Amino acid sequence: MDLALTVRNTFVQHFHGEPVVVRSPGRINLIGEHTDYNDGLVLPAAIDKAVYVAVHKNNSNLVRLVSQEYNDQVEVGLTELVPSSSKPWTNYILGVVNQFQKRNFTVTGFNLVIGGDVPLGAGLSSSAAVECATAYALNEIFSFGLSRLELVKLAQLAEHEFAGVKCGIMDQFASVFGKPNHVIKLDCRSLEYVYVPFDLSGYKIVLFDSRVKHSLALTAYNKRREECESGVQLIQRQYPDVKSLRDVTLSQVEECIKPVDLTIFKRCAYVVEEISRVEQACEALNSNDLDTFGKLMFQTHEGLSQAYEVSCAELDFLINEAKKFPAVIGARMMGGGFGGCTINLIAGAEMKRATDLVTLSYQNQFTVTPGVYQVTPSAGTAVIV
Ligand code: GLA
Repeated sequence: MDLALTVRNTFVQHFHGEPVVVRSPGRINLIGEHTDYNDGLVLPAAIDKAVYVAVHKNNSNLVRLVSQEYNDQVEVGLTELVPSSSKPWTNYILGVVNQFQKRNFTVTGFNLVIGGDVPLGAGLSSSAAVECATAYALNEIFSFGLSRLELVKLAQLAEHEFAGVKCGIMDQFASVFGKPNHVIKLDCRSLEYVYVPFDLSGYKIVLFDSRVKHSLALTAYNKRREECESGVQLIQRQYPDVKSLRDVTLSQVEECIKPVDLTIFKRCAYVVEEISRVEQACEALNSNDLDTFGKLMFQTHEGLSQAYEVSCAELDFLINEAKKFPAVIGARMMGGGFGGCTINLIAGAEMKRATDLVTLSYQNQFTVTPGVYQVTPSAGTAVIV
């Protein structure tokens, strides 16, 4: 059954009354990884897998939450919102409520049912989708009047404060601003963006889900962010006008960081190169040169694996296997790292053969069956019922 309808029906069974239903999608990122929190460029898209929330006011001071995926329910008072370690799924919803409260918006009690088909913990930003769906729905039912961009920023802060990940703005932005058949070229410094038509001319976007969820992902992510900040400080000693790695050239990284700290040097060199790869990838897209685009994706993987060190054996294996097929013109790990998905551009006619064989070799190597998701760039957050 239609997912929106399932969520709506669950709401009616639990709470009665007619809810507002909001859809907010997961995201992919074609290129531009770990650049968002360095004021750089990214090229994400919303996908055709989404989170749905059904919401209605309940005339009390309580928030009542029902999760279809976790088969769980929670009731919590609006004056006692703190991050929960026993029920982490609630943090992405309550973190958003908390952000509205911090901005002095009066949130009164509401009922909410959540469901959807974004695979959890697969690096497709199910958490950002939950935050954005919740922010959009509450903005709607309480008529707070916040703009899409304000909702994106609020959702990002909910992730920082209730989930503890000091993420950049990419995931929430892509979920809210997605557009069918387009990728978003987003400048994470100015927040200016353009929709770039993503004409796949016979190629498909296929994700292999390694099914790996490393517990070190959260701390390692925050550590990378700190390493980048340390790099900027080292450069500022000689170039005080530099504000972030966006302002930096590779030769400045060589000059100011390499003699002091080799690890920080590798991290920062990767980021500076990746920001320029996004520019090159956009030029390639504009001239319909998917081959060059794909090569840049392979380069990104190399950088994420060797220099930024956020890959893992399973992701590297998936890339090496995919590379064996001429039909795979580009592939790389996607998102924060240490697990989740790889993103692959595969010629449509060869897609089945390539995915079957990569699946088989992954099974043989790790005795785990990877997820395989074919996705298309889709619309961003919206009320659908
Ligand atoms: C996670 C974060 C994003 C971004 C990516 C890496 O998905 O939430 O903000 O930093 O990792 O590009």
